[in-house]
Amino acid sequence: MSGCQKNEAAVRPSEITSETIYLQRRQWLGQLALLGVGVAALPWSAQAAYSVPAWMNNRLHGTRTREVTTTDSLTPFKDVTGYNNFYEFGLEKTDPLAEAYRLSTDPWSVKVSGLCDLPGHYTLEDILKPVALEDRVYRFRCVEAWSMVIPWLGFPLGSLLKRLRPQSAARYVRFTTLYRPEEMPGQRHAGLAWPYVEGLRLDEAMHPLAMLAIGLYGRALLPQNGAPLRLVLPWKYGFKSIKSIVAIEFVAAPPQTTWATMAPHEYGFYANVNPAVDHPRWSQARERRLPATLWEPNWRTTLMFNGYASVAPLYQGMDLRRNF
Ligand code: MTE
Repeated sequence: MSGCQKNEAAVRPSEITSETIYLQRRQWLGQLALLGVGVAALPWSAQAAYSVPAWMNNRLHGTRTREVTTTDSLTPFKDVTGYNNFYEFGLEKTDPLAEAYRLSTDPWSVKVSGLCDLPGHYTLEDILKPVALEDRVYRFRCVEAWSMVIPWLGFPLGSLLKRLRPQSAARYVRFTTLYRPEEMPGQRHAGLAWPYVEGLRLDEAMHPLAMLAIGLYGRALLPQNGAPLRLVLPWKYGFKSIKSIVAIEFVAAPPQTTWATMAPHEYGFYANVNPAVDHPRWSQARERRLPATLWEPNWRTTLMFNGYASVAPLYQGMDLRRNF
């Protein structure tokens, strides 16, 4: 079960979750080849109109550690980059692919504020400088009951938060997406209260599975997936995985998050994947693994915490029906 070197500094052996499965390098490369990842697979508009900054492409060179947490097949690149939720670009699943190429992501900086010793404006280059990048294959479960398996590229969220030296009064972290209506047509209309905001308890944010992604399928993120920097929280519903992050704030009280504020009876702050707690309008017991069709809906059983049992201690003693 080995064949890949783990980055011991990023995830210590004691933290490696029992669900972690390591695949051999050759098997991994074989999967990528089968899925036809290459320039030809890129959707035309994104390929033609969005260019990844050269420094970012350079940053992605070199060896990376790899962690694979499922034996399920990868969701094809075209589905991961063509079926998206990014309401800043529209409400339809194909709107982000059609619209997000307009987003300019270079230069990019993140404002860090609140209860930490090192607030400031950090360029993405600064953030990435000391980081050891990793490939991590995670299951991804949307609250709308569809799911994917995605090979992310990024680094542990906790490693960045620790560098910023949270103060003892900091209990939560608040993340904010870019607000730029001239490039994000969805922000020119009512709908959600912009900018999109998400939050985590600090101990959740420090869990080794929590990740900041800058890429997927071994290449830089495309805008529709939240370029250049997004959260990935595989045990939570997808809406917690906020895209195109421009601000991180350490706070003492639970942040008001976009969906929990907009529809508090439907979306909670925690949003842990939980097949026992239905959405008021649909069951969460099953999910459609994409790609799926009406004829082949590809249903499968949803697992508690999306199968990532190592997070359970974070919620010990909590009533997960009330804290949904
Ligand atoms: N982040 C922002 N800023 N805006 C969004 O609309 N949608 C969320 C999440 N992050 C969203 C967001 C939802 S509902 C999901 S399911 C995931 O992004 C989808 O990520 P993907 O499109 O990369 O699969």
